[in-house]
Amino acid sequence: MSAAEVAEHYNKVRQAGIEDRKESRIFFMRNMNNWIKSQLISDAMKIVNENDVRDPRVLDIACGKGGDLRKWDISGAKHVVMADVADVSVKQAEERYKQMHKYPDNIFSAQFIVADCTKENLEDHIEHKDLFDLVSCQFAMHYSFVDESSARTFIKNAVGMLKPGGVFIGTLPDADRIVWAVRNGEAGKFANDVCKITYENVEELEEGKVPLFGAKFHFSLDEQVNCPEFLAHFPLVKHLLEEYEMELLFVKNFAQAIQDWLEPGRRLLESMKGLETFPNNNLSGKGAGEYEEAESKIESLGENVPKFVGTLSKSEWEAICMYLVFGFQKKKAEGKEESESPQLKRAHVEQVDTKEEKVHTTASEEQPPNQH
Ligand SMILES: C[S@@+](CC[C@H](N)C(=O)[O-])C[C@H]1O[C@@H](n2cnc3c(N)ncnc32)[C@H](O)[C@@H]1O
Repeated sequence: MSAAEVAEHYNKVRQAGIEDRKESRIFFMRNMNNWIKSQLISDAMKIVNENDVRDPRVLDIACGKGGDLRKWDISGAKHVVMADVADVSVKQAEERYKQMHKYPDNIFSAQFIVADCTKENLEDHIEHKDLFDLVSCQFAMHYSFVDESSARTFIKNAVGMLKPGGVFIGTLPDADRIVWAVRNGEAGKFANDVCKITYENVEELEEGKVPLFGAKFHFSLDEQVNCPEFLAHFPLVKHLLEEYEMELLFVKNFAQAIQDWLEPGRRLLESMKGLETFPNNNLSGKGAGEYEEAESKIESLGENVPKFVGTLSKSEWEAICMYLVFGFQKKKAEGKEESESPQLKRAHVEQVDTKEEKVHTTASEEQPPNQH
């Protein structure tokens, strides 16, 4: 699977309009993913600001169609470099940025680059060579784990231009979780109402010989077939990043990240519609057992509490639990050690057991049920 094929695939993916998105079976899951990215970016920018950075410079590597542009604006970024191998996607991102520029409120300056970050030296394309304060790579780094040289080049492009004290954040399929799911499925497959994951080399899987690079799997969401992806085992990701003086701040499965951000991010989660109100007349999950946990949560609610909860269908939750979120920081120059950021003080390497309970919030703190 070459980067050109990945580009061809992503170039063909249509930019969904708001109405299409509302119709999607994974409407809430997508919104939840977006909320997770918003929380991650906002926390990372807080750390950057602690370094007394006045005009944060950001690299959004494998930026796709620019789905995070608005987040960069909100975060206070002053210059953002957006890079991706898919030229049509980069054009669409640039178009989005120009639309945002129509209503300038001191919007950040930006550069858009088409580059295969597993082969090219990204720095050669960059106009202003000042180091970055923050690098973000969302749902993308694992594509580079097709082979060692591609992964190494991608990682160099990601963090090689990061300042000491600068932060690298991202989201990835959780390799442990995926291997667990396909091993427990039939013939290397895991499937539910919204996602299907197939590990390509079943023998490898059965013999417990999943390779470090080139561990190919297929992940389709909401019946949209994706191009082949590769497992990026987190200890290996960490090891490769450490070669660039990167220190782990945290890694956690999405299930844990949601729990941790639920309180500070509750209002944003409501406005981004990251949870579905249960019960309602048009639930996204139709299959039996999709809302069992929400039902039992409602039964446990006291007398005078409205009988509504914010939840996700079981299948969407299982799909969300296939991902993890991480943060690294580049070592500061000698003598410049500072106290850890308050947001991420409890940095921990955590691979949670995602069989844990789902998130439920009572409807009194959620959106009214008739919004769906
Ligand atoms: C799932 S999309 C994520 C897009 C965006 N980061 C987001 O969160 O919406 C994965 C992106 O990785 C990009 N990508 C994959 N391989 C790449 C490579 N070798 N160099 C640069 N971008 C790459 C794809 O073109 C695609 O846009």
